[in-house]
Amino acid sequence: MKKKFYFGTNTKMYKTIKDTRAFVSELQELTKDISRDDITLFVIPSYTTLKDANELKNEDLLMIGAQNMGWEEQGQFTGEISPLMLQEIGTDLIMVGHSERRHVLGETDEQENKKVICALNHNFTTLLCVGETEEQKEYGISEEIIRIQLKKGLYGVTKEMLDKLWIAYEPVWAIGVNGKPATKEYAEQIHIVIRETLVEFFGEEAGEQIPILYGGSVNRENAVPLSRMEHIDGLFIGRSAWQADNFNAIIRDVLGL
Ligand code: 13P
Repeated sequence: MKKKFYFGTNTKMYKTIKDTRAFVSELQELTKDISRDDITLFVIPSYTTLKDANELKNEDLLMIGAQNMGWEEQGQFTGEISPLMLQEIGTDLIMVGHSERRHVLGETDEQENKKVICALNHNFTTLLCVGETEEQKEYGISEEIIRIQLKKGLYGVTKEMLDKLWIAYEPVWAIGVNGKPATKEYAEQIHIVIRETLVEFFGEEAGEQIPILYGGSVNRENAVPLSRMEHIDGLFIGRSAWQADNFNAIIRDVLGL
């Protein structure tokens, strides 16, 4: 087994407060015997459930994240949620640039960059998601797209801010009900590009430390093979993790427990 492995789920626009409370409690209970020296576990539930999820979490077992964040502390930004509001309720992590925010809600690399800087400056663990569309893959420009998303998304991030930066590679064509999971070889190839880009930006020592997670139709069949790839440091899971027992089973399969 590798160093620490990362496991997380984004529950998207699913689960009410009651559902999220039950999910967080069950997940903590089912996984409490697994050493947190071996795993980092996180859940990113919907906004209205964040306060409850944060209150319920055992900090030794679980991190709770927000699915999005505004990049100013306050102001005339109707519908946005500020870093101070998320800190106030004890949120650990901010996800930035999920493909559904980029492609359904029209967010740009420039906006993701402002959020990354703001989240890191407010001491949140910051999970920047990158990934190419099916069309970009067809054109053979996946690697270029990933490098652009990283270069723009991380613009202005300095070595001193890196402690809490994580990256997720989530190819758009692999995500959700119509998604096809990436093969482990393809995911590995892109993870290598991401690692090289991070090393180019931040130098070898710092660039090698940033965890790179894979997401997109991870399930009980492909989780173990993906996790065995040298450059995959974690799995970021949607549908297959929304039942706590299934998520727990995936974690144990990967750890060989
Ligand atoms: P699925 O695992 O359901 O494809 O979703 C992945 C995802 O979007 C995680 O953020």
